Amino acid sequence: MPRFPGPVESRLPAVGTTIFTVMSRLAAEHGAINLSQGFPDFPADPALFELVSKHMRAGSNQYAPMAGAAPLREALVRKAEAGLGTAYDPEHEITVTAGATQAIYTAVTALVRPGDEVIVFEPVYDSYAPAIELAGATVVRARLRPPEWRPDWAEVRRLVTPRTRMVMINSPHNPTGGSWAAEDLDALAALTRGTGIVVVSDEVYEHLVFDGRRHESCARHPELRDRSVVIGSFGKTFHVTGWKVGWALAPRELMAEFRKVHQFVVFTVNTPVQLALAEFLEDPARYLSLPDFYQRKRDLLRAGLAASRFELLPCHGTYFQLAAYGRISDEPDAVLAERLTREVGVATIPVSAFYDTPPAGQRLLRFCFAKKEETLARACERLAKV
Ligand SMILES: Cc1ncc(COP(=O)(O)O)c(C=O)c1O
Repeated sequence: MPRFPGPVESRLPAVGTTIFTVMSRLAAEHGAINLSQGFPDFPADPALFELVSKHMRAGSNQYAPMAGAAPLREALVRKAEAGLGTAYDPEHEITVTAGATQAIYTAVTALVRPGDEVIVFEPVYDSYAPAIELAGATVVRARLRPPEWRPDWAEVRRLVTPRTRMVMINSPHNPTGGSWAAEDLDALAALTRGTGIVVVSDEVYEHLVFDGRRHESCARHPELRDRSVVIGSFGKTFHVTGWKVGWALAPRELMAEFRKVHQFVVFTVNTPVQLALAEFLEDPARYLSLPDFYQRKRDLLRAGLAASRFELLPCHGTYFQLAAYGRISDEPDAVLAERLTREVGVATIPVSAFYDTPPAGQRLLRFCFAKKEETLARACERLAKV
């Protein structure tokens, strides 16, 4: 086997295969029900597939404009205006991206400089810290605290320094299912007032909010709108995580820098899918029905586990449910997650994977409930016996 003739100095020495890949692989190996990685096991609306096919056949198969196909940018801006009451300019304030992950990476690369500090909230989605480290900046970690998983703003204030360049937030929140209140955004606005701090607001679960709650978007907030890159993803909204199409909204000055990087990371996103999504968005019921759709699944999972020894934490949004297992075992969560996959036939995600240094004694697993009702019922049956 030929080998590279020299040392390879990793830019990300601490990064290995993500826990999501590891658990999904283990689930497949053991034929376990996969409640680990966050993707639906049910199909998207066939009307969406028809639209993609229509645009392919009609010849829309060459590069779309760098910022995104105009009909999709316009449809997304109309959606933001209708849903959040906020106007964005489709020419200068939105870019269609290859999923939220690329939008996150691009925002950090474009707006963070070596030596800067970026505040994130643990448990934190796994792509944020590597993006910050690759930009030569320092990850500064605040903690969200159970059971509501909202920030302690006094702690966050202590973490802000003259080098703080960005705050990255995510609500509704993966992995906890928590969601921030309007007061949290007010606190963030107060904290950043008079500074050049940019907020990256990962809102990929914007439509997955339950019990009549309103999604508090940075795009809606009168002050934060002007300093935020607000990120969304069709993967979550239309049950097509494999399509990897998302978007970023930001004021013109930030978006101009974002696009400078975007054009060399991906240049543009696949054309027929963009045009299909633009048409599919014409019927708002397609995303406004999501809270009811997923709330039913959440309630099924919770009811199915009510008599189990797992203790369920509140879940206000996303398609993730956290469960404490202190009554079941003393094992570290990664050990238990592996054992449940092998012995019980249900794969989950250990919440410690979302921390640099997990809180001592925290015993939590994450279940994904973006699954068919029969999948959830079978999983609950197995988990109830643990
Ligand atoms: C909080 C959060 N941000 C970003 C992403 C990535 O989204 P995409 O698949 O559109 O890149 C995910 C996917 O699980 C997520 O949970």
